[in-house]
Amino acid sequence: MNDTLQIVIHPLVQHKLSLMRDKTTPTALFRQLAGEIAMLLAHDVTRDLPLIDRPIETPLCPMQAPVLAGRNPALVSILRAGNGFLDGMLTVMPMARVGFIGLYRDEATLQPVQYYCKLPADLGARRVVLVDPMLATGNSAAAAVDLIKQAGGRDIVMACLLAAPEGVARLQAAHPALRIVTAALDDRLDARGYIVPGLGDAGDRLFGTA
Ligand code: URA
Repeated sequence: MNDTLQIVIHPLVQHKLSLMRDKTTPTALFRQLAGEIAMLLAHDVTRDLPLIDRPIETPLCPMQAPVLAGRNPALVSILRAGNGFLDGMLTVMPMARVGFIGLYRDEATLQPVQYYCKLPADLGARRVVLVDPMLATGNSAAAAVDLIKQAGGRDIVMACLLAAPEGVARLQAAHPALRIVTAALDDRLDARGYIVPGLGDAGDRLFGTA
């Protein structure tokens, strides 16, 4: 662990996360909570975006008003659970470009297998926010960051709901400068690669496919 890991301990985030962990929480509420937490995490993943002053006129007087500098951010979702974070992030960043990376986990090796990759242009000029609710083994996230870097991305932040220490260590070893924003750092991975205590399979709970 190092200072590239940020745990968002805001009470609203923690409250909503506990509701998501509860196995009795139904799909619709689970999905809504994922969206709400994504909006709250968006605050942290964008907190250091550069601003530039632009002249505007309020109803009272002219002023120099700060607006985001440079190209719009890019959100990159690791399919499919990452899509559970997209709507919330897009609610507060409607101007963002969106990319998708399809990786499934080989259940025998726990290694990621790529089946899809479509990323926005000019990634090198954008803040790239990689979204995946579960940072478990870290293998998928590390592979996704590899793909983003190959496409020119340099300013990359990972946003997740839950991280396992094993996943954080793996991702930090592969990409030491990457900032990771998570709502919680859980205890460990189990033998199947699930985060413990966790919340179960995020994709199944988001999309009701359990
Ligand atoms: N993916 C999930 O959906 N849940 C876990 O606990 C680990 C990986």
